[in-house]
Amino acid sequence: MKNSICNKKTTIKEILLFINADPAGIAFIVNDNSILCGLITDGDIRRLLISGRELDSYLVENDYSNYVYAIEGQPIEKLLNEVDKKVRIIPIISKDGKLIDYFRYEHKTHFTPVAEPSLKGNELKYVTDALLSTWISSKGIYLDRFEKEFSTFCDTNYGVATSNGTVSIHLALKALEIGEGDEVIVPDLTFAATINPVILSGAKPVIVDIDKNSWTICPKKIKKAISSKTKAIIPVHVYGQPCDMDSIMKIANEHNLYVIEDCAEAHGATFKNKKVGSFGDISTFSFFGNKIITTGEGGMCVTNSEKLFNKMKVLRDHGMDPKKRYWHKEIGFNYRMTNLQAAIGCAQLEKINSILESHKKIEDNYKNELNDSNLEWQYNSEKANRVVWLVSLLIPADKRDLLIAQLQTKNIDARRFFYCLSEMPLYEKYALDCNISKEISSRGINLPTIEDIDYKLIRGIVEDCINS
Ligand SMILES: Cc1ncc(COP(=O)(O)O)c(C=O)c1O
Repeated sequence: MKNSICNKKTTIKEILLFINADPAGIAFIVNDNSILCGLITDGDIRRLLISGRELDSYLVENDYSNYVYAIEGQPIEKLLNEVDKKVRIIPIISKDGKLIDYFRYEHKTHFTPVAEPSLKGNELKYVTDALLSTWISSKGIYLDRFEKEFSTFCDTNYGVATSNGTVSIHLALKALEIGEGDEVIVPDLTFAATINPVILSGAKPVIVDIDKNSWTICPKKIKKAISSKTKAIIPVHVYGQPCDMDSIMKIANEHNLYVIEDCAEAHGATFKNKKVGSFGDISTFSFFGNKIITTGEGGMCVTNSEKLFNKMKVLRDHGMDPKKRYWHKEIGFNYRMTNLQAAIGCAQLEKINSILESHKKIEDNYKNELNDSNLEWQYNSEKANRVVWLVSLLIPADKRDLLIAQLQTKNIDARRFFYCLSEMPLYEKYALDCNISKEISSRGINLPTIEDIDYKLIRGIVEDCINS
C-alpha cells in the first residue's frame, strides 16, 4: 500500500506514472503530515484529461476529495453498505486521519447459464480409467458399455454411438438408404440439425406445422404432406415433449414410411409409458454439453433392427467390411465416438434419473415463483410423460426479446425458441403452411435450468418486464 500513497503537490503526469506502476490502479493523496486528503483512480485521471486538463498541471482538491472513507474498527457490514457502482475502494483511516489500509470490493459477476452439465459423479474416475487404459479412440470397454446401457435405457436392442446428434440423423438416413428423389417430412419448430442431414443426404425435406399444445409435429399436417416420394418422417420430441407417436406410427404404417425419431432433447421421456426412441426404425440422440446427459460432443442411434444396427456400424466406420479390414463396399463416414466420451456417458447415465428429477424440480420452482397469467407453461399431455430439458414457456411475443435482454443485464442467460425453419430463406422453399409454429417460436423462451438459480431475482425481472 505504501506504493499507492502520493503527496497532494503532484502533477497529472506524475500521478499517471505513479498509478501505472501500481497494480491497484489507484493513488491515495496525503498532505505533508500524512493525513489522507482523498484518492484518485486511473479512471478519474482519464476523465480529467478528456475534460482538457494538461499533463503537467497540478492536482487540485476537487480532483481527489470526493471519496468515501471508513475509520478503523468499523464493522465490515458498514463498509459493504457504502459500496455501490461508483464506490469500490474505501480507504480506512486511523482516528487521527492517517491512512492505515483500504478496502476494495471485487464484484464477481455471477453468470447463470441456460444449461450446465452435472459432472460430479463418476465422470472423472471413468475418464481417468479410460485414459490410463490407453484406449482413447473409438474402441474400448466404455464404448461397448455405453452403447449397451443407453440402448437398454431406451428400451431398444441396439445402440451405435456417434460423434454427435446431427451425424446420427445422417447415419440413420443413410442406413435407410434415403437420398436423391426421396422426400422426408420434418417439423417446422426444431433445431436446424434435424433438416440439414436430410438435405445433405440428397433428399428433399418437407417442412410441416406443429400442434399448438404440444409444439411437436402435427400428425394431420403430416398426412397432408405425404406424396408418392415420401420415404420417412422425422418427428422431433422438441423441448422434452413426446410427439403423438400413436398417430405418427399409424400414418407411417399406412403409407409404408420410415420413422426416425429425433430425441436430442428428450432422453427418458415416454409416450403411453413407452420410451421415446423405441418407436421409430432408428432413433437419434445428442449428448452435447447442454443436453440432459452429455459426453461433451456425442450422439447415438438406437434401433431394434439387427440389420440396421450392423449397417450403421459399417457406415460409421468408413463403410469398411467388418470381416475384411481395409476393404470398402460402400461409401461411409467417420462418425465414431471415442472411448473417453463414452466414459463420461457411462457416468452420466448412472445419474440420468436424478438429473431428470432435478430438472423437474427446477421447473416446479419456477412455476411457484412466476405465478403470472401472462405466462403459458409447457403442456402436460395425458398420454405422455415429458421431461424437462430446458424450462420452456410462452410469454407475450412483444415482451419476449425484452425479457431476454433484461435478464442479460443481470448476467442471466435465457434463450428464445428456435426460429422456425420456414422463416429462414435457406429452408423456406421446403415449407408447407406453418402458422402455429411461427406463433410459438415468437413467444417461446427457455429459462436457466441449472442447480443454482436466484428465482426471486428472475421473478422481479419477469414481473417488471411483463408489466412495463
Ligand atoms: C432437435 C435437435 N436435433 C439434433 C440436434 C443435434 O445434436 P448435436 O448438437 O449433438 O449435433 C440437436 C441439438 O443440438 C437438437 O436440438
